[in-house]
Amino acid sequence: MRILLTGGAGYIGSHTAVALAATGHEVVCFDNLSNSRAEVMDQLETITGQSIPLIVGDIRDRTSLEQAMQSHAIEAVIHFAGLKAVGEAVARPLIYYDNNVRGTLSLIEAMIACSVRTLVFSSSATVYGEPQYLPLDEIHPTSATNPYGRTKLMIEEMLTDIAAADPDWRIAVLRYFNPVGAHESGLIGEDPNGIPNNLMPFISRVASGRLERLSVFGDDYDTPDGTGVRDYIHVTDLAAGHLAALGAISSHNEPISTWNLGTGQGYSVLEMVRAFERVNGVCVPYQIADRRPGDVASCYASPDKAKAELGWEAALGLEDMCSSMWRFERMLATSNSPQATAT
Ligand code: NAD
Ligand code: UFG
Repeated sequence: MRILLTGGAGYIGSHTAVALAATGHEVVCFDNLSNSRAEVMDQLETITGQSIPLIVGDIRDRTSLEQAMQSHAIEAVIHFAGLKAVGEAVARPLIYYDNNVRGTLSLIEAMIACSVRTLVFSSSATVYGEPQYLPLDEIHPTSATNPYGRTKLMIEEMLTDIAAADPDWRIAVLRYFNPVGAHESGLIGEDPNGIPNNLMPFISRVASGRLERLSVFGDDYDTPDGTGVRDYIHVTDLAAGHLAALGAISSHNEPISTWNLGTGQGYSVLEMVRAFERVNGVCVPYQIADRRPGDVASCYASPDKAKAELGWEAALGLEDMCSSMWRFERMLATSNSPQATAT
């Protein structure tokens, strides 16, 4: 298939581009580079041996999207483009509604104009809000606890209405749990601007000495060791999940389907710290700090629906997550001009 990846230069988009190119799909990335660098395309060429086109554009610019889809005869879209920082969303909600919600509306309009009705959407486990039971399955009630989560929920609802109005749509809503890790080459990965919000990039930077110590946000949760438990999924597994979803919706009769992409296995913050130290032979100094507002004790997926319907399940464990992240961190440290994804 000829597939447009909005946000294709970003962390998950670039890894999915690799997976799609490796299986013979033609990939075109469309990205405004607000949280990524054009140089990632060079890394993708090194990894895949193929030159993947990048169109620098904004999804809120419908004309530019239509031109991209027409000139590349696009048949399906995987929609990664969006802003994703919870703290920023609380402080500046309007840019989240504008970028994520309006951007998706503009994308849908452009797709309709170009008669493209196959879409995979990057949603998030954040739509489950405070877990009412675990593991979280796809029928768990949804709610939003912050404006970022609300944009994901609004988009999911918008897509449901669109699919109800026109059953020719084939839409996959993928709810990611906690994506971590990097491509095995260490050439692409996640390198957030500023101080990382997420645990694993923070651990990586402490291990390399770029940051002094990790603050563990709370050790008094109702979990085995008191620290927060999450479902960490290797970004390469996540990328494979997109391929599986695309294959499934292309042959399914349902206009819209939702799948969790997680492992079903929860690990605590301290388990992640120890795994990173053990796998990479490094030291990650940490201190126990106050709980972070808005955090839940535990959050992990039921991956059963994805396994049954997509024939997909995560294959890579903690060891691959930790070692690939460290390889990418070393690449950043040794490279004079890091060609990594800035996320
Ligand atoms: P990322 O920031 O690395 O990638 C997003 C890409 O979209 C970036 O390259 C950015 O430049 C681009 N972009 C943003 N706004 C755009 C716009 N208006 N027009 C064109 N391009 C635009 O983030 P990621 O981690 O790869 O996340 C991809 C998607 O997955 C996002 O929608 C995110 O909300 C979702 N998601 C991510 C996580 C996570 O922890 N990484 C978890 C759940 C869901
Ligand atoms: N944590 C620390 N110290 C840190 C960072 C995180 O102790 O410096 C802890 C958190 O308290 C939590 C765990 O590590 O217990 C994971 O935190 P992350 O910030 O890495 O991930 P979250 O589960 O909070 O959220 C992530 C994304 C959200 C997304 C959600 C579900 O940031 O956008 O996964 O997909 F919605």
